[in-house]
Amino acid sequence: MAIIQTNNLSKVYGSGDAVVTALRDVSLTVETGEFVAVMGPSGCGKSTLLHLIGGLDRPTAGTIQLDGDDLSRLSDTRLTEVRRRKIGFVFQFFNLIPVLDAVENAALPLILDGMKLAAARATAAEWLQRVGLDGQTSHRPDQLSGGQQQRVAIARALATEPALVLADEPTGNLDSRASDEVAGLLRQVADEWQRAVLMVTHDPRIAAYADRIVFLKDGSIIDQARLNGTPLEGAQLVRDKVEAL
Ligand SMILES: Nc1ncnc2c1ncn2[C@@H]1O[C@H](COP(=O)(O)OP(=O)(O)OP(=O)(O)O)[C@@H](O)[C@H]1O
Ligand SMILES: [Mg+2]
Repeated sequence: MAIIQTNNLSKVYGSGDAVVTALRDVSLTVETGEFVAVMGPSGCGKSTLLHLIGGLDRPTAGTIQLDGDDLSRLSDTRLTEVRRRKIGFVFQFFNLIPVLDAVENAALPLILDGMKLAAARATAAEWLQRVGLDGQTSHRPDQLSGGQQQRVAIARALATEPALVLADEPTGNLDSRASDEVAGLLRQVADEWQRAVLMVTHDPRIAAYADRIVFLKDGSIIDQARLNGTPLEGAQLVRDKVEAL
């Protein structure tokens, strides 16, 4: 089942002389349980694409279907609700709240959605355990490594049982071992928990964890690759494609 379906999505920023076309006619589908990576040079529109799909910004033209909802037809209030319930966000710099511990950070979206504190903490603790952090539930972000902080962020993203996880350079601030762990966890998010995962990355090795890679240039999809070999073959294929861009 398609969780995301964009149709000729375009985004223009600014006006007059300052006009920037950040996205141009992007049509992209991501299915349940599918892990898709987005690659392309700086400024090609990767974050813009994630922001539009995530309902953080509105497109200039085109449509976005998210799990059956046409985002462009939703009021701001309903869009906020859909965003909170159906999408989990993972960021490069984790965006955890420093004064809250791991379980409180992971419970936050549930509390914001009206769940009682005890139930929210219990659900968050379960997700922390699933991402391999059961020993660190009462640690604050500054007591965790970068890879552990990102796993808290992934637990937070999954706590609301979203249909879609959006990750913008989730390994951009991690060393290579932690990057592999986080990419492997996103693989598990798709395989085991059957979420659709859309991830932006600059790293061919990390992109090779995905099922499919979409290459953006100047706001348009210029190529796609389906990966079904070994991770090593995948990474080489991606490097070749990136060089050819
Ligand atoms: N709020 C904004 N106002 C004006 N221009 C913007 C805005 N956001 C992005 N842009 C422009 O849109 C284009 C695409 O930006 P975007 O952030 O999507 O690129 P990106 O592929 O994520 O780049 P990077 O790899 O550096 O993160 C760029 O030219 C950028 O300057
Ligand atoms: Mg970006």
